[in-house]
Amino acid sequence: MRILCLLFLFIWFKPNLAQTDSTKMQWFKDAKLGIFIHWGIYAVEGTTESWAFYNKQVPYDAYMRQIKGFKAENYQATEWAKLIKESGAKYCVITAKHHDGVALYDTKMNGLSIPKKSPAKRDVLSPFVQALKNEQLKVGIYYSLIDWSHPDYPGFTKDSSRYNLLNEPLRWQKFTKFLHGQIQELSTAYQPDLWWFDGDWDHSAQEWQAKEIRERILKAKPSAIINGRLQGYGDYATPEQNFPVSKPTEEAWELCMTINDNWGYRSIDTNYKTAYELISIFADCIGYGGNLLLDLAPKSDGTFPDRQKYLIKELGKWIHKHAEAIYGATAGLPQGHFYGASTLSKDSMNLYLFVNSSNANSIYVKGLKNKILKAEIVGTAEAIKPKIVGKIYWSSVPGLVFLDIPPDAQDDYITVVKLSLEKPLQLYNGKGGL
Ligand code: GLC
Repeated sequence: MRILCLLFLFIWFKPNLAQTDSTKMQWFKDAKLGIFIHWGIYAVEGTTESWAFYNKQVPYDAYMRQIKGFKAENYQATEWAKLIKESGAKYCVITAKHHDGVALYDTKMNGLSIPKKSPAKRDVLSPFVQALKNEQLKVGIYYSLIDWSHPDYPGFTKDSSRYNLLNEPLRWQKFTKFLHGQIQELSTAYQPDLWWFDGDWDHSAQEWQAKEIRERILKAKPSAIINGRLQGYGDYATPEQNFPVSKPTEEAWELCMTINDNWGYRSIDTNYKTAYELISIFADCIGYGGNLLLDLAPKSDGTFPDRQKYLIKELGKWIHKHAEAIYGATAGLPQGHFYGASTLSKDSMNLYLFVNSSNANSIYVKGLKNKILKAEIVGTAEAIKPKIVGKIYWSSVPGLVFLDIPPDAQDDYITVVKLSLEKPLQLYNGKGGL
């Protein structure tokens, strides 16, 4: 009975992440920005990535015919890596294979790949991985566990499947052999710093053999990080598209988000986020101690649309100007102390307040116990004088810190105010009064 109870408790509380050594996560937590790249045959006609045939927006054959238009004729891997470097990102995750099963690299596990089936006729992944390494960027490989094209994968479209796994276990075994084989190929060829699995919801940890996948990866490279989509065997949480309004409780997390409304290139999608919106979202992510993985969607010729280039360059300019408030900083003030995002230097001696420039005339901080040695605008030479309001001399409750931001020191998007503290940050979060 006791064993049963323990088993029940374990299943009930089964963590959705693995036990991870936190030192290995450090580069990831310091990185703040990653660039996601969805590049595949869906860019040819601009269908949604893989889901187009699964959801029956296009018949499977019509979807797959896009491979005949994938030429990558203007693709320059080194230019891509330079652009990513310019964005301020420290890592990049690229779709080695999406749910449609088309590999960007020369897989030996089957014949469905860009080098074998498309007019591009070459492995388009390897040169990019090399270019990332040359730019000292960390390499992340997106790999879909789901493979709707594989004849031994049960799932196919939203209302049809090939077989039931319970009835044909040997067929599923054939598929897992293929899956593990591709993971081994990618691991041997690229030694990725990060693995970004997707589609784990389709099967259980046991069915995917998730534990073995994790072991296989860590055996080849003990420092590798795995995202949280491996049925409990990943290292960090991956909220998608929707901003987590309450601060995630996981040690490490990353919000993945599209730059417009789609992961892959679609000429009809012009609903781009603005530079201001991207910077605001990014500031909010890092203020909550997370990363942003911002998706770019190259065309099938291998070039990025101008708007995408413009946006990530603007983001990059802003990030480089405010680098000290970003890289190596940690989550900032808890809610209630400041209306906006903030970060804190690792030694807790510098507090950075992020302020929307269009209403950045005056801001204030609540419950700050520390003496402020200096207040200034990051990226400029402007110092500002804090005004302490409502401090009662006989009470230990700190006053409010009001800061007026000079109009000429404001950033085009988000202004960052730095408060250098005399001692590590100390906060008052009581109810006020005596
Ligand atoms: C979802 C989608 C997939 C996309 C991914 C990116 O899992 O299935 O199409 O690539 O999100 O996070």
